[in-house]
Amino acid sequence: MNEPARYLLTAALPYANGPLHIGHIAGAYLPADIYARYLRARGKDVAFISGSDEHGAAITLRARKDGKTPREIVDAYHALMRDTFRDFGISFDIYHRTSSPEHYRTSQDIFLRLLEKGAFTTETSQQYFDEEAGQFLADRYITGECPKCHNEKAYGDQCEKCGSSLSPLELINPKSTLSGNTPVLRETSHWYLPMEHHSNWIGDYISKGALDGKSHHDPRQWKAHVLGQCMSWIDGGLHARAMTRDLDWGVPVPVEGAGGKVLYVWLDAPIGYITNTKVWADQNGKNWEDYWKRDDTHLVHFIGKDNIVFHCIIFPIILREHGDFVLPVNVPANEFMNLEGEKISTSRNWAVWLHEYLLDFPGRQDEMRYVLCSIMPEQKDSEFTWSDFRERVNNELADILGNFVNRVFVLTHKYYEGTIPSSDGYEQGDADRRAMAEALAAFEACGLKIGQYRFREALAEAMNIARAGNKYLTETEPWKLQKTDPIRTAAILFQCVRMTGLLATALEPFLPYTAARLREGLGTEQRNWDASAHDLVLRPGHKIGHVPILFEKITEEQIATQVEKLHRSNESAVRAANPIREAIAFEDFQKLDLRVVRVVSAEPVPKTRKLLKLVVDTGVDQRTVISGIAEHYTPEELPGKHVLYLANLAPREIKGITSQGMILMGENASGRLAALVPERPLGPGDEVR
Ligand code: MF3
Ligand code: ZN
Repeated sequence: MNEPARYLLTAALPYANGPLHIGHIAGAYLPADIYARYLRARGKDVAFISGSDEHGAAITLRARKDGKTPREIVDAYHALMRDTFRDFGISFDIYHRTSSPEHYRTSQDIFLRLLEKGAFTTETSQQYFDEEAGQFLADRYITGECPKCHNEKAYGDQCEKCGSSLSPLELINPKSTLSGNTPVLRETSHWYLPMEHHSNWIGDYISKGALDGKSHHDPRQWKAHVLGQCMSWIDGGLHARAMTRDLDWGVPVPVEGAGGKVLYVWLDAPIGYITNTKVWADQNGKNWEDYWKRDDTHLVHFIGKDNIVFHCIIFPIILREHGDFVLPVNVPANEFMNLEGEKISTSRNWAVWLHEYLLDFPGRQDEMRYVLCSIMPEQKDSEFTWSDFRERVNNELADILGNFVNRVFVLTHKYYEGTIPSSDGYEQGDADRRAMAEALAAFEACGLKIGQYRFREALAEAMNIARAGNKYLTETEPWKLQKTDPIRTAAILFQCVRMTGLLATALEPFLPYTAARLREGLGTEQRNWDASAHDLVLRPGHKIGHVPILFEKITEEQIATQVEKLHRSNESAVRAANPIREAIAFEDFQKLDLRVVRVVSAEPVPKTRKLLKLVVDTGVDQRTVISGIAEHYTPEELPGKHVLYLANLAPREIKGITSQGMILMGENASGRLAALVPERPLGPGDEVR
């Protein structure tokens, strides 16, 4: 493939419905930023595009919860997110928004062009409507009983208890979350994208990297989990998907008689990449069409794994149906990052919020960037813990990188008043040659790996430059040589300063603040990547300045404070979302027949992740109970335990098994379940009141 003429890099438009956390950055924005900075350092033409996604249920649900309008929500969070990205050095060329007039225009134009070209079908269907609220209900606005596990709080799109994906029509006893009423079915018509018409070419594009019978990209460069997710979608059969919705928040459908309808958020949001490129181009004297419509553009989408099918299948279909547009050559999606043993959760406030991190660790964005890049979930889910954060900062950034740089600056000032010494008259030995060769090889490998989206390995290679430098200093001990062999000492330090210069270039994509401090200390400008290996600025006679201590150590107390804060905010979020419910009459309570029972046996329910089939001794008889506790208790640890049991719950059919009564459990703020066992011995059948 020819060298691309320009790069169009997009990073998923995050929903403007809450602050940014470490999972966002590790998933999409840090890898994209590293890639963009690297390409710029190589003198490439780069447009790095992102912005806020300001439509969809994610926004309107947040607004309802906070008692605000959607406009108020997106205004507040757009500003906060834009500032947080800036504060972490995410170097977008533009961070615009989908509620802007420019975006309404662009997305409506594209919709109309698709309509003209016959890309859509129209279909009429029955959808739930809330008569009191006077509106159709998005899936997330309907709750009801899950038809599979009988959880009563399932949503119209999925049940969080058993993980099934659902459609609102499957829910038993559906309720509108707007009014609490039972919704009615009403007829409505929408524009659909008949994706099944595109299975053939999209299948070739994904699996072979082929488009119009020609090679478009090399699919072997795509991540296995991205290809896997796409192919399982395609193999499972593509279906028509509605591209419009009955809602009053979004981009209005620009068609006569379509009042009250807006574009589906997953149609309008990716078009936001195009809008934002246009706005950036207008502001910077560029032509947006060069970036979106010329074959020598290299388009890469950086996203998290929950966005894969939208970027690899649905958006490419839209782009191609429209015509003229380029398709992505790669979508290097990351997997998820967990936090201290649990999934990151915004609603439970189990997250490290980036703007709060900077209040607690001011000026220390590079430490977070370093750790997140080191554990980036490139091929599989990964985990952030505060103790690991501390170890990496202290043992790697401070002890390896900071230590090398500090020694080079101190020695250069001590022996040469900060002027780079000449190596004239010195003949290099093995150690000298090996040190520089190692540093240059690491530098080279770093660039190559960034180009392959292997950012963890690339960062390790950049750090290997400092490792090579430390090894060189340890081997040669110039502080012992200065008196006896000044010529060799000068030659060693000259090499070490050059290695520091190499570090300033190699680290810039990962640690831009540290790289800037290094450049300032060295008295150099930002270097072109390819020229760095033969740096002509850092030569004998050049005067260097000082660098501050690059990385202070993180203390154990700092970490303990963070862990404590995480648990505290998690607990208060969970409590706030779950206040004590309204009073019931004593007679209502008396209807519950609560008993102690003894677990006789337990076994998993086949083909489920969460369900166990228990047999319990009620003192009167033995009963079968299906219980959703398989992720919290193994079948082996239950028999013999005395647990709390609701005996007179009407029997229910679950997975073809009749379940009688229900085992009661306590649940803590992070969702851990615990059986409630008697504090003094009680026997099967003993009553609880
Ligand atoms: N807002 C979506 C999310 O956070 C991502 C949108 S990416 C875009 O999951 F391409 F649609 F913009
Ligand atoms: Zn369920």
